[in-house]
Amino acid sequence: MPATIKKITVENEARDLKTFDLVFNNNKDVNKFKYICGQFAEISVLGAGEVPIGIASSPLDEEFVQFTVKKYTTGVVTTALHNLDQGDKIGIRGPFGNGFPMKDFEGSNLLIVGGGFAVTTLRSTIKYMLHKKNRSMFKNIILLYGARNPGELLYKNEMIEWGKRDDIDVHLTVDHGDKDWTGNVGLVPNILREIAPSSDNSICILCGPPIMVKYTIIVLINLGFTPERIITSLEMRMKCGIGKCGRCNIGPKYVCKDGPVFTYKELQGMPNEY
Ligand SMILES: Cc1cc2nc3c(=O)[nH]c(=O)nc-3n(C[C@H](O)[C@H](O)[C@H](O)COP(=O)(O)OP(=O)(O)OC[C@H]3O[C@@H](n4cnc5c(N)ncnc54)[C@H](O)[C@@H]3O)c2cc1C
Ligand code: FES
Repeated sequence: MPATIKKITVENEARDLKTFDLVFNNNKDVNKFKYICGQFAEISVLGAGEVPIGIASSPLDEEFVQFTVKKYTTGVVTTALHNLDQGDKIGIRGPFGNGFPMKDFEGSNLLIVGGGFAVTTLRSTIKYMLHKKNRSMFKNIILLYGARNPGELLYKNEMIEWGKRDDIDVHLTVDHGDKDWTGNVGLVPNILREIAPSSDNSICILCGPPIMVKYTIIVLINLGFTPERIITSLEMRMKCGIGKCGRCNIGPKYVCKDGPVFTYKELQGMPNEY
C-alpha cells in the first residue's frame, strides 16, 4: 500500500532514530490496515528493499501510522529510509504478526518494561491503554523504561507527560546520567528489583535487547510472576513476514506469524535460537 511521509521526528541525540508519520495514499487502505498493538509491518523503500518494523502508533490514532526506525550504519533499507524527506512516498505491507493479547490484559495490573529502541510497540500499547475510552479496562499500570543515556530516551516529551498523570506510574532509568538528569541511574533489572512491583493479578510486557530481557526475567520470576504472565516480543531476521519463506522460524514456530509476541512459557518450550 503506497503511503506518504507527513512528518519526520528525530528522536535521539545520536540522530539515528527517527519516527515517521505516514498517511496512506488511498483511503481504502486505511481500513485494510486495521492493526492491534504489538503488530508489525514491512516498510519498503523503492530500489532499496523492505524491512519489518513494529507499529509505534496506537490503533486509535486515526490520522497517521507511526514507525520509529533505527538506522544501521551498514543497513541498506534503514539508511534509505533515513535519507527520505517529508512528502516522499514509501510502501507498507501488513499488518503482520499476532500482536499483544489486549483482551487478556483487561482487569489486570500491567507492568510494562522496555529497554532501548524496542520500546516502540510498548509505546503503542501504553497510548492505547491510557486512551479515555480504554483506561478503565486496566488496573494499575507501571512503566519502567531504560536507555543508555538521557539523549537516547525515546518519546521523551510523551514520557514526561505520562509521568505527570496519576493513572500510570512511570520510572525512567539510564545506564549513565548527565548533569541535568534527575531520574534513576542503573540497569533495568536492578531498578525493577528496587521498585519490586507486586505480581498479584499482574502481567508483565517486556521488550528490549536480549541481554536485558534475560536478566529482567530472573527478577520477574523472583517477584512471583509466572512464565505465562511474562510476555515478550522477538525481533528475528525476516523476509516475507507471512510464514512462507522459512527465514524466521524457531523450531516449528514462525516468529512472523505465530509471533512476534510470545509468553515466556511458550519460549521455554522452544529451541533457544532467539
Ligand atoms: C518484528 C520486528 C519488529 C521490528 N521493529 C523495529 C522497529 O520498531 N524499529 C527498528 O528500527 N527496527 C525494528 N526491527 C529491526 C529491523 O527490521 C532491522 O533493523 C532492519 O531489518 C535492518 O534492515 P537494513 O536493510 O537496514 O539492514 P541490513 O542491510 O539487512 O543489515 C545491516 C546490519 O544490521 C544488522 N541487522 C539487521 N537486522 C537486524 C536485526 N533484526 N537484529 C539485529 N541486527 C540486525 C545486520 O546484521 C547488519 O549488520 C524489527 C524487526 C522485527 C523482526
Ligand atoms: S519471514 Fe518468512 S516465514 Fe517468517
